Amino acid sequence: MRMAHRGPKFYDNPSVFEEYRRRRARPDNPNDTIERPIFLEMVGNVAHSRILDLGCGTAELGLDFIGMGCAQYTGLEGSLKMAEAGRETLRGTIGKIVHAPIEEWDYPAGAYDLISSRLVLHYIEDLQSCFAKVHRALIAGGRFIFSVEHPLLTSSNASAALSPRRTNWIVDHYFDTGERSDDWMGASVLKYHRTIEDYFALVRRAGFRVTDLRESRPSLNRLTSEEYARRMRIPLFLFIAAEA
Ligand SMILES: C[S@@+](CC[C@H](N)C(=O)[O-])C[C@H]1O[C@@H](n2cnc3c(N)ncnc32)[C@H](O)[C@@H]1O
Repeated sequence: MRMAHRGPKFYDNPSVFEEYRRRRARPDNPNDTIERPIFLEMVGNVAHSRILDLGCGTAELGLDFIGMGCAQYTGLEGSLKMAEAGRETLRGTIGKIVHAPIEEWDYPAGAYDLISSRLVLHYIEDLQSCFAKVHRALIAGGRFIFSVEHPLLTSSNASAALSPRRTNWIVDHYFDTGERSDDWMGASVLKYHRTIEDYFALVRRAGFRVTDLRESRPSLNRLTSEEYARRMRIPLFLFIAAEA
């Protein structure tokens, strides 16, 4: 069995990084056809907002936000390779990248109107203290919006082992939450499985008011009919929006 690495170290593996970029460059990847449109719909207007993006990766979201007129964009990223790629993406813009782990960065208090995070928080073990830091870093009434891999998928990876392109999904050990080791893109990564109710409770316990919850229902206008039928079978992502 391969040794599983934490998120930033996993993404710093050169072959994982290449494979990640290759997959994300495909125009039909579900991050762009399903996750991004729902995320941007939930975010709405960001004109004049000061934004912190947790686990920004290559910082395409930064370009979206800057294009929408935000006042400030800071991407926090733990992988050096991703942080460098993010700096390249934002070159010549107002956007900035900070290379630091989400768990250890010294968050300024009351400094942001919006804190975003796309597909990162399932890599974080202690989400309660992370959410407390996020809450303190927002102004009163500031927004926290994030997506994660859907809990139906993080519960068990038994179905991924059956065939590379899943035709059925195994949901198992759903309430047995905690660490999972996932073989993905040619290496092994540590993720943390939580139920939907766990995410909801963690957000509220940190002092937020939950304002929206979505589950990545696909939209036919961005997908082929075959892909649409597949994505109607099981949700890929969970989204939560909350207010401080
Ligand atoms: C699936 S990628 C998503 C990137 C970006 N948010 C997007 O949606 O395009 C996950 C990112 O989270 C980063 N990450 C994972 N755990 C992290 C941590 N503890 N601290 C900082 N970054 C982390 C990884 O390095 C990687 O860039």
